[in-house]
Amino acid sequence: MKNFTALSDVTNIDELVQEALKLKANPLSFPSLGEGKTIGLVFLNPSLRTRMSTQKAAMNLGLNVMVLNVNQESWAWEFEDGAIMNGTKVEHVKDATAVLSQYCDIVGIRCFSSLENREEDESEFVLNQFMKYCTVPVVSLESATRHPLQSLADLMTLTEAWNQPHKPKVVLTWAPHVKPLPQAVANSFSEWMCKAQVDFVITHPEGYELQSSFSQGAIIEYNQQKALQDADFVYVKNWSSYHDYGKILSGNHDHWLLNETKMKVTQNAKIMHCLPVRRNVELSDALLDGKNSLIQQQAGNRLFAAQIVLKSILEGLNQ
Ligand code: CP
Repeated sequence: MKNFTALSDVTNIDELVQEALKLKANPLSFPSLGEGKTIGLVFLNPSLRTRMSTQKAAMNLGLNVMVLNVNQESWAWEFEDGAIMNGTKVEHVKDATAVLSQYCDIVGIRCFSSLENREEDESEFVLNQFMKYCTVPVVSLESATRHPLQSLADLMTLTEAWNQPHKPKVVLTWAPHVKPLPQAVANSFSEWMCKAQVDFVITHPEGYELQSSFSQGAIIEYNQQKALQDADFVYVKNWSSYHDYGKILSGNHDHWLLNETKMKVTQNAKIMHCLPVRRNVELSDALLDGKNSLIQQQAGNRLFAAQIVLKSILEGLNQ
């Protein structure tokens, strides 16, 4: 693997999940693979899981780790080529990546959508500017439209929790939130589910349709209760409108909050959420802390998702 920024970087999704699960059984089986090498993790946005799971994954492989929080403990970056930098941006991405590429053998970057400019986000302007000038492999730690490390961990979790011969029914349900959130986790989850061995349904209020390229192959059902019927897994996530870009649509959607009564029509479904979660806004305490909750298993699997990706990139570098 050269880079990991989207599902298209994965040759075989089933094989990758199986390899990640094998690594989970023996996480310290490649302690020297990254010896003498360094990964740099660049964060333009906050993180708990992505930051710490990727650091730990790197350490398990013998890599040195450096973390840079841009805007807080580093210079503010400019991404526009040809910009006249007479404002608040102090360092151009061209210079920053040239420096990072000398210090690091792999770099990761987290660059959320601003939810202000749909065309810019859709084109992955920030990620692509970073990759254009970087001369070492790049791992996405969540970009404007995707969060592939999360999706890999989610698919691992589904695989571990499912032991029936038939395909599980997986439902991605929109949840209320107090502020507009990017579509990246939902996009990515949908993209991966559409390629996985599952029956996949997305349910959300009208107006919250994802960009169609991410939901191609999914069934869209606007009636949440109908969508939940016979579900084996329910993945809960808020996202802002794609069509009315970055907005929370008018109307009260609080009734989209999932609860135990709604879950009665499922096949005793497991509950998933990528975290962080606003308890009792997006998802109730009862479901988050209930016996069917997979949220901590998902977070745990973030480590092995990162580790299999870094292992694969390191093997490419060592060839
Ligand atoms: N799920 C996830 O990416 O968590 P963080 O934002 O804390 O990294």
